[in-house]
Amino acid sequence: MIWDFAEGNPLGSSSGSWVLFINGICKAFVKTFEDSDNSDIGSAQQKDASIQNISKDKVISTDPPYYDNIGYADLSDFFYIWLQRSLHPVFPLLFNTPSVPKTQELIATPYRHSNRQKAETFFLEGMTHAMSRLAEQAHPAFPITIYYAFKQSESTNESGMISTGWETFLEAVMRAGFVLTGTLPIQTENRSRMIGMGTNALASSIVLVCRPRCHQAPIITKREFLTHLRRELPKAIAYLKRSNIAAVDLQQASIGPGMEIFSRYAKVIDSAGKAMTVREVLSLINQTRDQTQTEYDNELDDPTRWAIAWFEDFGFGEGAFGQAERLSTSTNTSISSMAEDGLVLSKAGKVRLLKPNELSSNWNPQGSRPSTTIWEIAHHIIRTLDQGEKAAAVLIGKLGSTADCALDLAYRLYDSCNRKKRAQEALAYNALVQSWPQLKRLAQEKPIPTKSKQDTFI
Ligand SMILES: C[S@@+](CC[C@H](N)C(=O)[O-])C[C@H]1O[C@@H](n2cnc3c(N)ncnc32)[C@H](O)[C@@H]1O
Repeated sequence: MIWDFAEGNPLGSSSGSWVLFINGICKAFVKTFEDSDNSDIGSAQQKDASIQNISKDKVISTDPPYYDNIGYADLSDFFYIWLQRSLHPVFPLLFNTPSVPKTQELIATPYRHSNRQKAETFFLEGMTHAMSRLAEQAHPAFPITIYYAFKQSESTNESGMISTGWETFLEAVMRAGFVLTGTLPIQTENRSRMIGMGTNALASSIVLVCRPRCHQAPIITKREFLTHLRRELPKAIAYLKRSNIAAVDLQQASIGPGMEIFSRYAKVIDSAGKAMTVREVLSLINQTRDQTQTEYDNELDDPTRWAIAWFEDFGFGEGAFGQAERLSTSTNTSISSMAEDGLVLSKAGKVRLLKPNELSSNWNPQGSRPSTTIWEIAHHIIRTLDQGEKAAAVLIGKLGSTADCALDLAYRLYDSCNRKKRAQEALAYNALVQSWPQLKRLAQEKPIPTKSKQDTFI
């Protein structure tokens, strides 16, 4: 029997009980009223975002629907039909329909619009209107912040990497006349939420910081755009990694800095004089990101380069010795030396990488060869992380600043697993990235001295 969730007892007075919940909610209401004078009290109105006029001169931060991720109205019906019975007399306007209103709901659901294409058009047009209302009405002194938590790789099309959910949303933002001035990945999602358990679900919302685009924005060519992209995107990605963005979020977060460049201009035109679409720009952003990765790979030690290339094809599975050897020639390594160093297992004409839990538990970085590889460092940290954060922190402490290379490799391998749909292996790399700040903190902590006998004053 495996325990997924502890279920609280709703009776009684311990945590999880009904009484405790109600008291908690009451306390929150009382506190809100105690702490605020009348001017602080918020107000809520139910309005369709595509035609609303309540944001005039307001500071706007908005969390719009994420394309087709959630059917809010359908979900709400589950509660609405019960609440309507008891609360209709209290809020007659809010509860005056038999079920939750659905026609204006800005989500791309094919079953409501007869097919996928019509659902996409509905989302694009509605979201463009909603964004335009914000651009027209927002207080000019403040930027508008828009949350978007849509996982790019969840939907693919013929171009492979481009997600309709991002493309359609960004198209609406651009059409509304916004320029992106910043991208902030914010960890909004609870790591222990049900969908996040044992999966690679998003950890962050991407917050797009927007301002209305200036009317004199220039037009540039695709070549000029690419020059800006190649200069600015790698720096932005390095910054995101240093800020410890979750590996699952890096792909969508790097869209932002790329779109920041695109949105600065009235148009980006290709060699035929045609304006580039958001879809084409997203494809260029993804290509540039991949090039950054190739440049990263080229800087690594030889066995690590071999291991990454092998991992791309086989993961931790077996492959033919001949193929492994051909790859080792091109990466300047030898299978026998990698087998000796405990990186691979080579037996009966087959080769495979050792999984972290198969690596030697006696590995001691201080006593190891001068040529310790980045692959070994990262995978031994993952091995110890399986025994708990303290064990991993001890190893990181021994490795000192050399340990930092493990983080970049974890991002790199997460991305590879994600592309190859190796969700299980991806978990370990994502977990390493997410635990990194805590591991570094623990590694720097001085060990608590063991209790000694207290001296006595004479
Ligand atoms: C991502 S959710 C926001 C969730 C919110 N931040 C929260 O924590 O509860 C998007 C919301 O937009 C609402 N929505 C969908 N279509 C809308 C429309 N046309 N006008 C206004 N709101 C709409 C959905 O009902 C949903 O509540």
